[in-house]
Amino acid sequence: MTDNLICGIDIGSSKIATVVGMDSAETDELKIIGFNTTVARGVRRGLVVDIKEATEAVEDSVEKAERMAGHKINKAFVAVGGPHISSLNSHGIVAVSNPQGEINEEDVARVIEAAKAISLSSTRRIIEVIPRDYIVDGQSGIKNPVGMSGVRLEVETHIITASTTNLKNQERILSDLGIENQGFVFSGLASAEAVLTDTEKELGIILVDIGGGKIDLSIYVDGALSYSSSIPIGARHISNDIAVGLRVSLDSAEKIKIFLSKNFDGKKKTPQINLKELDLPEDITEVSLKTLVDGIVAPRLEEIFKLIFEEIEKSGFGQQIPSGLVITGGGALTIGMLETGKRVVGLPIRIGFPEKVSGLVDEIIDPQYSTTVGLLLYGKNNISIDKDNFKNFGKILRDFKLGNSIGNLKNFFKQFIP
Ligand SMILES: Nc1ncnc2c1ncn2[C@@H]1O[C@H](COP(=O)(O)OP(=O)(O)OP(=O)(O)O)[C@@H](O)[C@H]1O
Ligand SMILES: [Mg+2]
Repeated sequence: MTDNLICGIDIGSSKIATVVGMDSAETDELKIIGFNTTVARGVRRGLVVDIKEATEAVEDSVEKAERMAGHKINKAFVAVGGPHISSLNSHGIVAVSNPQGEINEEDVARVIEAAKAISLSSTRRIIEVIPRDYIVDGQSGIKNPVGMSGVRLEVETHIITASTTNLKNQERILSDLGIENQGFVFSGLASAEAVLTDTEKELGIILVDIGGGKIDLSIYVDGALSYSSSIPIGARHISNDIAVGLRVSLDSAEKIKIFLSKNFDGKKKTPQINLKELDLPEDITEVSLKTLVDGIVAPRLEEIFKLIFEEIEKSGFGQQIPSGLVITGGGALTIGMLETGKRVVGLPIRIGFPEKVSGLVDEIIDPQYSTTVGLLLYGKNNISIDKDNFKNFGKILRDFKLGNSIGNLKNFFKQFIP
């Protein structure tokens, strides 16, 4: 067996991050061998707004990551997020092909296809289909129906859709760079792969990725992704507020925000903060911590958490997430995040770091790279059946005991490939 190279590209609103990982065939280890982060250009709230600029920025990041890894990136998983994402849960039902025998993989593939038959406008495309629960002859709670006997097979699925235009723009960027797209992955889902534990997913939890320009949400109930959405506000708004409140440039405000989160916590009561070491162009060397935290940052965080709370209510899963919230994305490190979140949402809350990888990890174990690392973990779980354009089947078969039957399955799935 050979080691598997897996690559991920996260075209965010603040940064473009490229990561190259080596999935060890012997151990279960996923080792980072190449990584780069470049300031984003041509992207706003997860949408490509200037294709030329965005392509240049992605090219820059990919080239640097390739150089570090010593490998060319020919194909990659790509993150997509932002308010153009929406989700729904759909039900599929089929008659088992051989009612005297056992339910087989083909029945499972057919029932998933049935669930995918939703009316969708031409402006939307399905990017993910996740089976949440199988039902055999009325008995629910089945994770893997293969091998069971029954007459009627049903499935509850979670389907994520995205704007066709935005996907096309991202595809264009990749094809211009000669990179094959192995699949779009919702950034909220990718981040969840990187920071949530299986127990948290089983118990019920919401993952919140606070990026520069948007917040992606993923709710897990009974171990399965059950709600995905995105809010068009991000950590950049906090910098904006600081810029307006202190009358400084956006660049200076960004520096002050990061300095604050790195040097203070929500509890420390230093009256004045010395900003001299930031060497800002403006004539500002001191600022009151109270003004900054309570007067400027906290009200915006409160607004953010109110919006998150509304989304939880809207999802209908509010009573099924006892594990609470895991906050990740660059914005997660904002001062006062946990205190404000706990107060507004009233659920347990922690910050999520992408820790499930090894190798060149010093820089990468930072909430802003949760989506990026998650792309690799997602890829690892979905690459076992290496059918291009067919990533969903890796997941459908996730719980199946594949044993030595991978070859047979590959042949089986070949028939579905256009
Ligand atoms: N240590 C920190 N403290 C406070 N804020 C931080 C810190 N590090 C990063 N941020 C903020 O996080 C934001 C960027 O987050 P991230 O890198 O997750 O965004 P992105 O993935 O590029 O954007 P998006 O997901 O919205 O498209 C910026 O607003 C930045 O100021
Ligand atoms: Mg992001």
